[in-house]
Amino acid sequence: MIKISPVTKCEGMLIPPPDKSISHRALLLGAVAFGKSEIINLSSADDVQTTQKALMTLGKKIYDTKSSVTIEGKGFSEGKECTIDCRNSGTTARMIMGLLAPEKVFIRIIGDDSLTNRPMERVISPLKRMGASITYLDRFGYLPVNLKGQDLHGVRYKLPVPSAQVKSALLLAGLKAKGGTTIIEPRPTRDHTERMLNMMEADILIKRSDSGSEIRINPSELSNFKMKIPGDFSSAAYFMALAALCPGKGLTISDVNLNPTRLGFLEALRAMGMSIRMDLDDVTPEPVGKIFINGGSLNAVVIDADKVPYMIDEVPLLAVVATQAKGKTIIRGAEELRMKEADRIGSLVEGLIKMGASIEATEDGFIIEGPTLLKGATLNPHGDHRLAMCFTVAASIANSDSIIKNEECVSISYPVFYQDFNRLTLL
Ligand code: S3P
Repeated sequence: MIKISPVTKCEGMLIPPPDKSISHRALLLGAVAFGKSEIINLSSADDVQTTQKALMTLGKKIYDTKSSVTIEGKGFSEGKECTIDCRNSGTTARMIMGLLAPEKVFIRIIGDDSLTNRPMERVISPLKRMGASITYLDRFGYLPVNLKGQDLHGVRYKLPVPSAQVKSALLLAGLKAKGGTTIIEPRPTRDHTERMLNMMEADILIKRSDSGSEIRINPSELSNFKMKIPGDFSSAAYFMALAALCPGKGLTISDVNLNPTRLGFLEALRAMGMSIRMDLDDVTPEPVGKIFINGGSLNAVVIDADKVPYMIDEVPLLAVVATQAKGKTIIRGAEELRMKEADRIGSLVEGLIKMGASIEATEDGFIIEGPTLLKGATLNPHGDHRLAMCFTVAASIANSDSIIKNEECVSISYPVFYQDFNRLTLL
């Protein structure tokens, strides 16, 4: 556990850790590219190491030098049999099912207690429609599963839940499925996989309209690549929140991914009254640049389901910020949060109520009245990295010390979170 004392400022310069989502994709797509790919600034977070280890278990050679990681391409050896432990990583479990479904391999996929209680039917059901053979070993809908790779055929599939992991799994399967695969997203989600597939010259076509996105992938050979992973906006968001709540001389965030499908939290802070500047440095394959933010007064905001996918991992953080905003903040359409590494609605509300916040959990979100003075408390993130960081932000603006239990879980996405926290907030 860690003791967090109130802080008075968050200022200076942050280069956030490499993006977790893009790092997973670079490894998985690198494994099936035409030749060797080079990844600069790969995330060292536990979840990404899980993907790297899974690929090595499958026989992939991955060379880690100080400056980059090289992964050999060309897919997987026929007849490979092994168990892949996806530990706490939903992205690894779901995306690897799509990647391996058309390969001639026999794989058991397992995970830790948290992952074993997260829904898998959302990805297995459409993969089965494509002809995949995946069987549940214990409970219907949950890991562990056996996957027997075989030939697939393309389908047209409308995503019932907005999930970039499911979309990506189907795109990966579609790379080797006979005929084209079309995925319809009524509520668009992060598009890192599509951007990478474009960069790797896949036969992919994306149509966007007011009613969502339609993505078509045809069987494709992928060219190898060299790519630098940009900083993770979701990790930077904790410090944006702190800079908004306890302003100092201003916070600059550099080398951060500015993909519009990830910026919902930034837009919400703007809607609450914060002035935030963005400068774009590069745009391919991912927009990268700088964010400048300093405090100001915050007003309540209403967030509806259409905005949630663009800030899915930051919604609990927005609820923390809303405890300090004037008025009633309502967040709706975020029921997916109950199926993350922990129940992020129930567990966040449990902690913030202990701190004296006026917050109510609804089935699909939060109702928060602000501003309220938070008091120090002992907080349990239930092993969830994002809740540990949310509670650290809340504890920083409380009137006395707090204790965060099992804070080491931040290493799932942000191993140096507390180093950056100390550097940016200590007087
Ligand atoms: C992710 C997608 C989101 C997000 C997760 C990472 C990804 O999950 O919550 O942290 O890398 O595609 P869902 O696809 O389940 O919404």
